[in-house]
Amino acid sequence: MRYIKLGSRDVSVIGLGAWQIGTRYWGWGTEFGPDNVSALLDAARDAGINLIDTAEIYGQGESELQLGANLPSNDDHFLIASKASPWHLGASSVQRAAARSLQRLQRPSMHLYQVHFPNVVMPLSRTMSGMRNLQREYLVEQVGVSNFSRARWARAERALGALVITNQVDYSLLKPRVFPALEPMLDDGHVMIAYSPMAMGLLSGKYNTEQHPTGARVKLPGFSARNYVNVRRVLEVMEGIAKAHTALVSQIALAWVIAHPNVIAIPGAKSPEQVRQNAEATDIQLSESEMAALDEVSESYKPAVHIPRPFEVAKWVVNRDYRW
Ligand SMILES: NC(=O)c1ccc[n+]([C@@H]2O[C@H](COP(=O)([O-])OP(=O)(O)OC[C@H]3O[C@@H](n4cnc5c(N)ncnc54)[C@H](OP(=O)(O)O)[C@@H]3O)[C@@H](O)[C@H]2O)c1
Repeated sequence: MRYIKLGSRDVSVIGLGAWQIGTRYWGWGTEFGPDNVSALLDAARDAGINLIDTAEIYGQGESELQLGANLPSNDDHFLIASKASPWHLGASSVQRAAARSLQRLQRPSMHLYQVHFPNVVMPLSRTMSGMRNLQREYLVEQVGVSNFSRARWARAERALGALVITNQVDYSLLKPRVFPALEPMLDDGHVMIAYSPMAMGLLSGKYNTEQHPTGARVKLPGFSARNYVNVRRVLEVMEGIAKAHTALVSQIALAWVIAHPNVIAIPGAKSPEQVRQNAEATDIQLSESEMAALDEVSESYKPAVHIPRPFEVAKWVVNRDYRW
């Protein structure tokens, strides 16, 4: 495992996303469930992963509850990152939301507390005033944001009057413009956290017009028959590179993301085997020519045209410079 600095802490460049834990959308209760959480966490610990990303909204609190139930409150291996929902961003409501998360997590404090999405009607000054209090009371070690453009991230930092250490964004070979957009911020201790680094499993290469994912993903535009055709070219380049490294296509997806400086990837995983495979992506050193080939095919990828989902429209409205 490779580690980078997150404030004074060393954080693994591959973390464990915990949205799937407690979320039916991801097959919770059918493909995996409460009996599997402890094995997932053990696999992460054994592989050197020390960052877990959750949110109050994941499984309506079930993700945090499961982590709380499966991790001792004095565990000092994992750094726990959670998020406040956009409707809890007033000064006192963000503090109440953090207290509820800590209760579910059964911990006295968390390492990173992130604003899950911007809220255009709530001034950042109010949110950050609440965050400041949380830091002052040692309930939250570091403050982060998510789905923020660079300009909004900088504004959040001015509002906090201190380091807003991370911005968690949708970044994968299918969304290559995100890193260049945030790169000017990625110095002086700032870190970008890449969510959906395998494009929700699409970049594992196992899905196509015959093999569909389980659960609600099948309805997403990325997993449509038309889009499989567009992703195919990206996967072909990935497959060639995977073969040269005796690696998995999913590992090439992650190796490309974490080849960028000050970037952490937080793939979701449903089995210890997936956790181990994801962690092993840190062993892959992509050559300059492999990076160039991946950059090129990634830049040329165009998603199949679709009617934007309300969530996408909201993202564009909130962050006008967000169309990465
Ligand atoms: N801040 C935000 O707005 C936001 C939004 C989305 C996600 N996130 C965070 O980012 C994390 C990860 O994102 P994500 O879950 O959307 O997407 P992802 O990590 O790109 O994909 C996760 C899915 O890929 C498959 N997978 C995982 N490891 C694999 C492997 N080694 N080989 C083959 N398939 C593998 C699994 O599903 P199958 O095996 O069923 O295919 C897994 O559930 C979330 O858990 C959450 O913490 C944050």
